[in-house]
Amino acid sequence: MKILVTGGSGFIGSALVRFLISETNASVVNVDALTYAAVPGALDIVENDSRYKFEKVNICDGISLGAIFAKHSPDIVIHLAAESHVDRSIDNPAAFVETNVMGTCTLLEVALSYWRSLSSNSRDKFKFHHVSTDEVYGSLDSYGAFTEDTSYNPNSPYSASKASSDHFVRAWNTTYGLPITISNCSNNYGIYQFPEKLIPLMIINGILWKPLPIYGKGENIRDWLYVDDHARAIWSIINQGTIGETYNVGGGAEMSNLTVVNMICDILDDLLPDPKNRSRRELITFVKDRPGHDFRYAIDSTKICGQTEWFPQESFQTGLRKTVSWFIENEKWWQLVQEGTYDGGRLGLGPKLK
Ligand SMILES: NC(=O)c1ccc[n+]([C@@H]2O[C@H](COP(=O)([O-])OP(=O)(O)OC[C@H]3O[C@@H](n4cnc5c(N)ncnc54)[C@H](O)[C@@H]3O)[C@@H](O)[C@H]2O)c1
Repeated sequence: MKILVTGGSGFIGSALVRFLISETNASVVNVDALTYAAVPGALDIVENDSRYKFEKVNICDGISLGAIFAKHSPDIVIHLAAESHVDRSIDNPAAFVETNVMGTCTLLEVALSYWRSLSSNSRDKFKFHHVSTDEVYGSLDSYGAFTEDTSYNPNSPYSASKASSDHFVRAWNTTYGLPITISNCSNNYGIYQFPEKLIPLMIINGILWKPLPIYGKGENIRDWLYVDDHARAIWSIINQGTIGETYNVGGGAEMSNLTVVNMICDILDDLLPDPKNRSRRELITFVKDRPGHDFRYAIDSTKICGQTEWFPQESFQTGLRKTVSWFIENEKWWQLVQEGTYDGGRLGLGPKLK
């Protein structure tokens, strides 16, 4: 099986590529533009494997994409390439429309024309899987969980662009018959996550004894999934999912942001205790909330757990400890990333007014 993965150099994409090469017999072609979000070092382990190939291409470039489909003849496409950070979407929404909407449409057009050119046997086997987010459903109050039938109600430029891409993917199935599946997943965390996201930022600041800035009162609730469980979920959908269907993927680990940061502080205090016996919880500060900050996301994963063999294997406690330990052991990696592209400063207060 030859799988074309877009965004395979990012946080989740690289975990998926590592999983595909180490746990399956699939060959992988990673198509990635290597934006600021591409994770250095995350694919070192697969780079010399004969089943791994890399193509530096922007998904908005239909001509180059067409050439890559012709060159590699994929059986499966897994589409992860995206602008993915909500705060950056508040500062610069156009980039999200460009990649997440226009890029997805370009990829769909190329995939459709490739699919139509296949023999009927290969056409029957081809699948296009689109990786999306639970944020398309909007915000929940204290009760209930998103199911696959929940209406879309995106609130940020990021979630609006992902919602739009989901609609286009579904439309390519109903209008043109392209065999697609979609997954809407909750917040991921794990090794190699870019330091601008909540969990890695808090771990790094905690290691350095810097302030731990939490938006608002820290009451916003997210469901957390360990990134390797997400990779396994995608693989299960590819193999056991039904064409045309959407699958919600969650970790069953709902936590307020304050709870998550307190847990990080406690793990760090345990692994790197302070000689003066201070707790990192003292570093927590509350800062101006994100504009339009969704209160709560929760995922009902009944469908994927019922229709495939998938279930989350990592608990939040074990996954978080693994993640914190990895960041402690890989200080050089995050120092390099911070020096290169992101210095830990505040994002997401909106475009700078001229
Ligand atoms: N991170 C999460 O918690 C989460 C949760 C659910 C769904 N998702 C979705 O999963 C996917 C991957 O998320 P992530 O956190 O790994 O993202 P990421 O930002 O870490 O990585 C995105 C990757 O896409 C590449 N890319 C960006 N624009 C591109 C373009 N125009 N052409 C080609 N490549 C491009 C980047 O270079 C990078 O390697 C996204 O579609 C995201 O919406 C993420």
